[in-house]
Amino acid sequence: MHIVALLGSPNVKSRSSALAEYLLGELAKRDVEVRTYSVESFDANNLLRADFQSDQVQSYLKDVAGAAGLIVSTPVYKASISGVLKTLLDLIPEGGLQHKSVLPVASGGSPAHMLAVDHALQPVFINLKAEKALPVVFSPDSQFEKTETGDYLIGDEILQRLGVALDRFIDGFEAHPEHPLSRDRSHSLLGETLAI
Ligand SMILES: Cc1cc2nc3c(=O)[nH]c(=O)nc-3n(C[C@H](O)[C@H](O)[C@H](O)COP(=O)(O)O)c2cc1C
Repeated sequence: MHIVALLGSPNVKSRSSALAEYLLGELAKRDVEVRTYSVESFDANNLLRADFQSDQVQSYLKDVAGAAGLIVSTPVYKASISGVLKTLLDLIPEGGLQHKSVLPVASGGSPAHMLAVDHALQPVFINLKAEKALPVVFSPDSQFEKTETGDYLIGDEILQRLGVALDRFIDGFEAHPEHPLSRDRSHSLLGETLAI
């Protein structure tokens, strides 16, 4: 059993990808296998023309079909999700997220657009028949610190919210027909109930 992560930012050094990568690191500590897809994973033609015959798209869809859940990250673009994330989601067939939990995370310049990503993603997850789609964990840009290497450090408040959301995401695996994940929460930041 594995998790698939979709990174929706076109940027290599990315705030929204940092949110997803934090979650992936926490899952790795629990020995969960993660397969990550971003714009870098595809030739542009295969991705933009949705070339279902290409090896890249076929292996992506096989990984999504076999996943227990998806972690999805996106920057807010024009009060919606990024085109990259939409392109990745558009490749997944209708009903392709049955029996899967989804945990979306997003970063944006303005907290005013906190709900924009929820509004954009929920209809997509319904169309794909996701078993459980958690609310987006949103971080404004002000909650990141840029390091000398151009990487992004995430503020404590957001880390706490990510920890809570991850526990809820793992709860969703119990709906998966394969082996449920161990619910060892020793790596959870809070281990306590906290509203997200
Ligand atoms: C083309 C473009 C459109 C954007 N539109 C919005 C927007 O509508 N609302 C907002 O809050 N931030 C907007 N932003 C800011 C980004 O969402 C924000 O900087 C985000 O954290 C970038 O994520 P990344 O580092 O993962 O690429 C936009 C940025 C770009 C480049």
